[in-house]
Amino acid sequence: MSAFDLNGKTVLVTGASSGIGKQTAITASKQGARLVITGRNAERLEETFKSLHGEGHLQLLADLTIQADIDRMVAQLPILNGLVHSTGISDMTPASYITSETIARTFRISFDAIVLLTAGILSRKKLAKNDSSIVFISSISTTYPFIGGSMYVSAKAAIEGYARVLAKELVQRGTRVNCIAPALVRTPMMDETAVNYSQEVVDQIEKLQPLGLGDPEDVANTIVYFLSDASKWVTGGHLILGGG
Ligand SMILES: NC(=O)c1ccc[n+]([C@@H]2O[C@H](COP(=O)([O-])OP(=O)(O)OC[C@H]3O[C@@H](n4cnc5c(N)ncnc54)[C@H](OP(=O)(O)O)[C@@H]3O)[C@@H](O)[C@H]2O)c1
Repeated sequence: MSAFDLNGKTVLVTGASSGIGKQTAITASKQGARLVITGRNAERLEETFKSLHGEGHLQLLADLTIQADIDRMVAQLPILNGLVHSTGISDMTPASYITSETIARTFRISFDAIVLLTAGILSRKKLAKNDSSIVFISSISTTYPFIGGSMYVSAKAAIEGYARVLAKELVQRGTRVNCIAPALVRTPMMDETAVNYSQEVVDQIEKLQPLGLGDPEDVANTIVYFLSDASKWVTGGHLILGGG
């Protein structure tokens, strides 16, 4: 059995109806994990569900900005060995146009929901002690910011800080906490962000990644490493997936 094997592990992936979360669920199932997948869009979540390898998986629809949905979902969860937070929305509001609604819209899903779901899972004792793993997805933009990204980058920076504290709080119970920070990855979110730029700017951004744009598989494979016993000595980490 390889150290990257996920047999016997149950993993919750949020944002599993699209992009990185969808691919992470599929790749983790190929490695033998039992998956619990969640998202808002029933049709696309079902599509992910049908693509999973193996048996015994579970899909739960939830809008994670609604506390009642978080509570209902946590109550339905089996004991988890892994938790991957892959929800998020893009935001391109220039600083002078930001209102309290802009802040709330981004932070509610990219920060509050993640923190509250984690709190619910921990307080309801749904995360196994010893050898469990939590993975957060931040962004390379906290190191290399982009114009218009003040809310997106701020929410990601907040998650990075939260993840570092959580790693310290959970290390004694045997839970590892790591954060990955990808550059541009080909997903619906990237397409949504790219429409705000001219083709010339898109080409310039691509050139900043000499190894090219990332594919969801590139991120999913890294997440599998953090979920697996191959990373059993790694916590509090922050790994940039930058394409160079
Ligand atoms: N793509 C990139 O270039 C890139 C780079 C760095 C970091 N990231 C980060 O990677 C993560 C995944 O991004 P992605 O590119 O895979 O994005 P994506 O394809 O747009 O997927 C986003 C996921 O978040 C879910 N979501 C959004 N709002 C939700 C809510 N209120 N409740 C529950 N789920 C909700 C969506 O579910 P529904 O569709 O079902 O609503 C969807 O499954 C995000 O945190 C993103 O910031 C992405």
